[in-house]
Amino acid sequence: MKNITIAIDGFSSTGKSTVAKQIAKHLGYVYVDSGAMYRAVTYYAMQNGFIDDKHFNVEGLVAKLNTINISFKFNNAMGFAEVYLNGVNIENDVRTLEVSGFVSKVAEISEVRQKLVEKQQQLGKDGGVVMDGRDIGTVVFTDAELKLFMTASAETRAQRRYSELIERGDDVTYEAVLKNVQERDYIDTNREDSPLRKAKDAIQIDNSNMSLQEQFDKILKLAKTTLESS
Ligand code: DC
Repeated sequence: MKNITIAIDGFSSTGKSTVAKQIAKHLGYVYVDSGAMYRAVTYYAMQNGFIDDKHFNVEGLVAKLNTINISFKFNNAMGFAEVYLNGVNIENDVRTLEVSGFVSKVAEISEVRQKLVEKQQQLGKDGGVVMDGRDIGTVVFTDAELKLFMTASAETRAQRRYSELIERGDDVTYEAVLKNVQERDYIDTNREDSPLRKAKDAIQIDNSNMSLQEQFDKILKLAKTTLESS
């Protein structure tokens, strides 16, 4: 049977990555978290003094882009691929609220997008991939056989992300997380280059009131139907 490409786009904290990982595992596909790549560039920018609360040296960051090597390595214990920056595992470092606070700004830069889109296309060139992000169905894989667009209310998403961060031991408030979710929604949908949009041929799934199992079942069914007709 042919290996298809599954593109999952949607707003931040819609739980895309959780269900995408499960579907990839079930189908024996590769899962690629494209958001982790934007987070990795953001983490690099923070570590190297290009971005903080007071300034953002876009030119400086862009000049260094060809020295930033992002890769993924499968962690058997975790059951998914973790993100590496120049050979160093930064999977945990990229999930902080601080990185979340700057990442949408970094994701607005066309040079950053161009570099990461190329890398994403290369990672998924043979199909058999589940990739989640904001522009996977509209830019990265416009020919993906199955495109999904996930939504949920901002409050539901903030509550989910807040619980995740608290579980990790991060010191955050629900209000701060909600503010971050709303700010990212705004920037991600209003940026000039590749704004977050539902692809015309994407199937929209509002998971506000769906359990993880229900989401998994629904998406797997769609994947199987797509596979049968491909
Ligand atoms: O999926 P995430 O929340 O980890 O993504 C972090 C940010 O990266 C998100 O706010 C916007 C940006 N992003 C993007 O612009 N395009 C993608 N394909 C994936 C993420």
